[in-house]
Formats: sequence, C-alpha cells, structure tokens
Amino acid sequence: MSNKVRKAVIPVAGLGTRLLPVTKSVPKELLPIVDVPAIQVIVEECMASGIEEVIFITGRGKGAIEDHFDFSYELENILESRGKSKELEAVKKASNLIRTITVRQKKPLGLGHAILQAKDVIGDEPFLVVLPDDIISADPPCAKQLIDVYDKYGEGVVSILQVADDEVSRYGIIDGETWEDDLVRVRVMVEKPAPAESPSNLAIIGRYILPPEIFTYLEETEVGAGGEIQLTDALQRLARERALIGYKFTGRRHDTGDRFGYLTANIDAALRRPDLSKKLWTYIKSLDENDFK
Ligand code: G1P
Repeated sequence: MSNKVRKAVIPVAGLGTRLLPVTKSVPKELLPIVDVPAIQVIVEECMASGIEEVIFITGRGKGAIEDHFDFSYELENILESRGKSKELEAVKKASNLIRTITVRQKKPLGLGHAILQAKDVIGDEPFLVVLPDDIISADPPCAKQLIDVYDKYGEGVVSILQVADDEVSRYGIIDGETWEDDLVRVRVMVEKPAPAESPSNLAIIGRYILPPEIFTYLEETEVGAGGEIQLTDALQRLARERALIGYKFTGRRHDTGDRFGYLTANIDAALRRPDLSKKLWTYIKSLDENDFK
C-alpha cells in the first residue's frame, strides 16, 4: 500500500440548482472563473499539491467536463492554421494537465455514495477529496496544506472553517478538542444541524484526506440526513474507531455553488491576474453606491 496521497476524487454529479437558470444546460463546474472553467481551477490546485491522477464522479449531462480535459484536434488544428498561438496554448493546457478517469454515479444517492464509486480506482491508498464548489485562494494550496498534515500524522484530515451561527445548517459541523494550534481532534460530526442543535461553529469545507478504510465505512453507512448516504456519517465512524483531524486551513474560501460566492471567486481571481488587476482596482474604486440605486 502506498502511503503517499496521489489520487484525487472530485464529485461533479451535482445539479447546481442554486445557480439556475444558467445551470439548466451548462454544468456548474464549467462556469468560468474569469476565463478558466471552475473545474480547471480545482484540477490545477490538485496538481500544484502533487496529485497525479484525478477521478471525476459524474452524472447525467456532465459529459462536457470530460471533453474539456480531452484533446480537441479539430479546434487545435484550426487555431494552428490561423496562427493563434496564445489561444492554442490555452486550449492545450487543459488537455495536457493530468490523467483523468471518469466514473459514473448512476443514482443521486448523496456525497457518501458518490465517493464510494471511486473504491476500485483508488484501491488501498489514502486519497484527496475535493468538492469543486469550494474554490480556495491560498498559498500553499489548501489541498497541499491538508496533505502536509496527513504526511505528518498519518490520519484522515478534513478542512474546517468557523462559520456564523445562522450558517451551520448548510454544513457538516464538527466538535472535538484542540490538538495543536490549527488542529482539532474530531469527536463529533453532524450533517447540517439546526442552529440550536449544532455542536459548534466549525464547518467542514470541501477538502478531505481519507484513508482507504473509509470505503468499508461508506458501504455500511445507512441513508442519513436528506435521504442521502452522507460522507459525514462515515467520517464520524472513522473519528470514533481510528482518528480524524480537523484542520483550520489558511486561505480565502468561495462557495461558487452560491451566486455571491461565485462572484467573489471571480473578483478574487481577476485581482490576482497581472493583465486585469490594475484595471479592475481602478474600476472598483471609481464606483459610487448611489449610481446603483
Ligand atoms: C457537503 C458536505 C458537508 C460540507 C459541505 C462543504 O455538503 O456534505 O458536510 O460541509 O459539502 O461545502 P453540500 O454542500 O454538498 O450540501
């Protein structure tokens, strides 16, 4: 068994209902962050974190995601013959990025069920899970920060973030005792609790390092919150029977499945781009709230 985290599972089967109408015919993972599809931002984070292979768990209508990471001979030939070298480079970048594998989740039975579909492809080694709605600007990348914690302690790791009281019901919430500065030994996990019943304000964000034992737990997990097989329930068992570390990552997180988070992810990315940053700052500073009333 390899102890190195080499593979990433990225579930992309979600419907994107919070972003309708645009997601009616466009998979939310292909919506642009400036001019790069959100899913490519995620795959680039995986690569920058040392990941060698990405496994997409897909559903109906998500074929365009695979196409994006595949070669596009027709388009490449046209760009080449027209001498459009910059555009050609951008198109080739996506197809040259990394080895990708696609596994279809045939029924929408929840996040836990989606992850379970990767069992045969992962085999007997620890792996990264990235939920692509969560785009995180961070240096080093958030996935790399988690891998470093895993390499040090050899136990499962989930990224955590303090959220407001009225937001706990949107997340998996953990509780436990402080282990080190940014680390919590997880004791309790609840998926989407009502604020009055929430054990804390520490929410799980979409980056996890999981040991292969999680597949056995997932197979034995019964339908939970929202009528779905919840990853959180299998993680609760992992925390009880082995160990699970909550890690307070460094970085700015954007929930791109939500309109506002999608906008802030774009602003953040544009302000980091040398070709756009100065112009955008000037534009933002020129704005007057009264002009929009
Ligand atoms: C999922 C997980 C939840 C986690 C969240 C992070 O929920 O089930 O535990 O806190 O992602 O974004 P979802 O957003 O898919 O409902």
